[in-house]
Amino acid sequence: MTAFHERRAEGDAQDVYEELLRQAKGLFEGERDLIANAANLSALIAFHLEGLNWSGLYFLKGRELVLGPFQGKPACVRIAVGKGVCGTAVAKGESVLVPDVHAFPGHIACDSASESELVVPLLKNGAALGVIDLDSPRKGRFSEADQQGVEALARLFVDASDWPEGR
Ligand code: SME
Repeated sequence: MTAFHERRAEGDAQDVYEELLRQAKGLFEGERDLIANAANLSALIAFHLEGLNWSGLYFLKGRELVLGPFQGKPACVRIAVGKGVCGTAVAKGESVLVPDVHAFPGHIACDSASESELVVPLLKNGAALGVIDLDSPRKGRFSEADQQGVEALARLFVDASDWPEGR
């Protein structure tokens, strides 16, 4: 079986994300469980986007991000807000696109194969509830189109899932 980071997506980025959004809508239809939807989202991304070695989610609990469902090697479980690429995306409340992780001060290396990274916050009513984190073994893997596409997936996932009381 081909490793997921060796798969090739067909078409340009816009087509790929249109298809991803269509499939995510189908998966979330009639299901609002947060963990189930997060698990399917991480797998959907991993198997549709080419050139990834990690795809997953972290959820904000207090002042820490805690590892959620993912595809890839086992990863660091807790990341403080403001630390690493993930914690920076939550602190800023906006996506962080890192073409070269070795040039990002404070990058947390979970898989030494990672060379570039895209982290998109899960936003609800302006507050960050967690992140979607994508890693690639290729420098410069992620474009503006990837950022916009994953932001659209994040909005869909947040709206389609039930969050703990008060969120
Ligand atoms: N690189 C991330 C940590 C999570 S792993 O990549 C899965 C960071 O710097 O926040």
